[in-house]
Amino acid sequence: MLTQYQTLLLSPDEDGLAAAASLLQAGELVAIPTETVYGLAANAFDEQAVGRIFEAKGRPQDNPLIVHIADFDGLEQLVTAVPPRALALAKAYWPGPLTMIFRRSRLVPAAVSAGLDTVAVRMPSHPVARQIIRAAGVPLAAPSANRSGSPSPTTAQHVLADMMGRISAVLDGGECEVGVESTVVDMTGEVPCLLRPGGVTPEMLKAVTGELAVNAAVTEQLKQGETAASPGMKYKHYSPQAKVTLVKGSPRAYAEYVNARQGDGVMAMCFDGEEALLRVPYITYGSREDPLEQAHRVFDVLRRLDERHARQVYCACPSAHGVGLAVYNRLLRAAGFEVIALD
Ligand code: TXA
Ligand code: MG
Repeated sequence: MLTQYQTLLLSPDEDGLAAAASLLQAGELVAIPTETVYGLAANAFDEQAVGRIFEAKGRPQDNPLIVHIADFDGLEQLVTAVPPRALALAKAYWPGPLTMIFRRSRLVPAAVSAGLDTVAVRMPSHPVARQIIRAAGVPLAAPSANRSGSPSPTTAQHVLADMMGRISAVLDGGECEVGVESTVVDMTGEVPCLLRPGGVTPEMLKAVTGELAVNAAVTEQLKQGETAASPGMKYKHYSPQAKVTLVKGSPRAYAEYVNARQGDGVMAMCFDGEEALLRVPYITYGSREDPLEQAHRVFDVLRRLDERHARQVYCACPSAHGVGLAVYNRLLRAAGFEVIALD
């Protein structure tokens, strides 16, 4: 049975950071703010602590974790080599919402990488994340701090809603700026390969690396029997309790489609300024033209739909350009890949 904890809500002041650091050093789990989403952190070198992450989240054992560092010096001990293009990406976008996959060094327990011979590393830019990594004095393994399957947490309150009693503490750093998880790029092959879109866009990556492959799982469902390059991408994800359907079309076509389906528990998730035509309850998630705002709000809105007991959500489909690709990728998974295209 899972141990019960009295989950502390810590402020990111001197006392809170010291308390969080000593919990982490003792092998406990602490949720920490980052600029993307909250992470559920443990000492990456402590195999038992890492094991607790999988238990607390209910995470499948074959889904590897990201290791967080505060300084470039922290990278060397985690990986066998830093390819020149990875170094160039690190110089351009670290600290920030970019995770790179390297060959794993022997210092990193296999449990962190779910047995793969690679390791995912990220240097977050959130000041509290950087402070806590330095205070703990070790790299921190951290997946998103939600229960496996549910939307990622972008506030300390979201973390508590999922993790109360299951972890030792939450460090409250306010709302996460980016709002969707980091971009994941595999740097171990000939050509860098995008595994998960995020705040660092394909265009930003290509500007540094020249070439970029994009894993098919970014925009398509894995076929039966196919192996996932990024194991996390194969699971149903980011879902509220409600069934979500993505609807592609003009504001008018979208509203007509949704209005024709009004009924108990039917809700719309639409763009700001496009709500006037709707005759069902709705929550907006940013303007059609503003993917940064959509990313910032998307997970909070998915959680609020649950609070309002939505059973069927028709979500206006975002454009898959720039950071919009990350928003589209997450909503596609929340929708179990169900997309209706209207003309
Ligand atoms: O922004 C983020 O990345 C947040 C914050 C907390 O840093 N973390 C996060 O972790 O989103 P998580 O565990 O929810 O997602 C990690 C993703 C998964 O899709 C996982 O499969 C992939 O990264 N991943 C981790 N290690 C990998 C590896 N060695 N090879 C391929 N994919 C890997
Ligand atoms: Mg996650």
